[in-house]
Amino acid sequence: MRRDIMQQTLAAALVMALSCLQCLVRAATVSRPGGICEIFVLPRGYACDERQVQTDDGFLLGVQRVSSSAQSGTTARKPVFLYHGMLSGGESWLLNERDNSLPLILADAGYDVWIGNTRTTDFSYGHTSASREDQEFWDWSTDDLVAHDLPIMLQLVYASTNQTAHYVGFSQGTQVAVAGFVEGHVLPFVDRVVLLAPVVRVDTIKSAMGIAAGLFLVDQMMLLARIWEFNAHLQSGEKLLNTICGYPNAHCYDDYISTFTGANCCLNETRRAYYEEYETQSTATKNLAHFAQQYRTNSFAKYDYGWWNNLFRYHSLSPPEYDLRRIPAMPLLLVHGGTDGLADADDVQLFLNSITFSPQVLYLPDYGHLDFLVGTRSNIDIYPTVLDFLTQPTA
Ligand SMILES: *[C@@H]1O[C@H](CO)[C@@H](O)[C@H](O)[C@H]1NC(C)=O
Ligand SMILES: *[C@@H]1O[C@H](CO)[C@@H](O)[C@H](O)[C@H]1NC(C)=O
Repeated sequence: MRRDIMQQTLAAALVMALSCLQCLVRAATVSRPGGICEIFVLPRGYACDERQVQTDDGFLLGVQRVSSSAQSGTTARKPVFLYHGMLSGGESWLLNERDNSLPLILADAGYDVWIGNTRTTDFSYGHTSASREDQEFWDWSTDDLVAHDLPIMLQLVYASTNQTAHYVGFSQGTQVAVAGFVEGHVLPFVDRVVLLAPVVRVDTIKSAMGIAAGLFLVDQMMLLARIWEFNAHLQSGEKLLNTICGYPNAHCYDDYISTFTGANCCLNETRRAYYEEYETQSTATKNLAHFAQQYRTNSFAKYDYGWWNNLFRYHSLSPPEYDLRRIPAMPLLLVHGGTDGLADADDVQLFLNSITFSPQVLYLPDYGHLDFLVGTRSNIDIYPTVLDFLTQPTA
């Protein structure tokens, strides 16, 4: 009883604090000069082509096409499409040195590499009419990436190459793909599929973000405070993190990163300042809220608009679930880590139990969430298996 009151008091205090901070939030948003090709790819001697596609709801997405200079003219190289996770963009595949950057490794192996960028990320191109200050700009969740962003990017690859693409997703880039497989409309565009640190089911998510979302309904408070953009670097985001870390069960120690991602085995501390120039980026509070809803309801369902609006939108009181049993058997490689706080082993098992076929699985006991992206051992622990999997003939 006393705990309830304390939680409510804390909640009220947080809403008030966030409301006051709202005015400070806006001026601080960043925009990036240059593009991913210009900053990360061309200087390393690879061919890179900067593209832009428009979603049917008006977002302008950046897509980069990377190949080794030696092979950029040759035809019929197999396309591979890479899709990043939440709070970062397509550049996150390129933050390590050449021998540990997956797009460059794939290009060296002769692939035609395409890098996707979610709406609102730093290297996408905004929106035809809405700006970062508008609620509309941040009015999206996984459902919108499934319905709009992923299909339009895969269609671009197909239209440019006349070929289906292999797919490699990380974190939210796995959830979006899996939901797209359930809905069926992205299946015609993909061939072999690699899921790195798959965040599909989030029922038991071990990180502090999960704990906070469940206990504090943090996402709802941010929406109430009309903070549509979540950014850990802005004061509203810092306030949120401090509040989460102040909660007795959250165990933040002094390290935000491992609190949210799980203990990472293989990060290069001397590169941390460099990573922090680009990460983490903003995301929609609604995107975060959607994960929190899934965590709280133990379901992989669409965004919950409340029963009244659900009725109009979905013709049911609660949002429909993405039924994982509907995914047809496909060549799938799933790579996951033992200390990952976001794609934890129980949730991965839940996903494996929910699908109707057995994918190839690579388990790395000491890997946390970020090791999959910027780990220094990926070229030994992960990428050889990925390359091997991609070259196997599809039955
Ligand atoms: C696309 O591929 C199909 C099947 O491989 C082929 O029949 C068709 O001619 C190709 N179209 C173009 C424009 O290359
Ligand atoms: C860590 O990063 C530094 C700076 O980029 C680099 O010199 C060093 O080789 C890296 N260490 C490992 C183990 O990758």
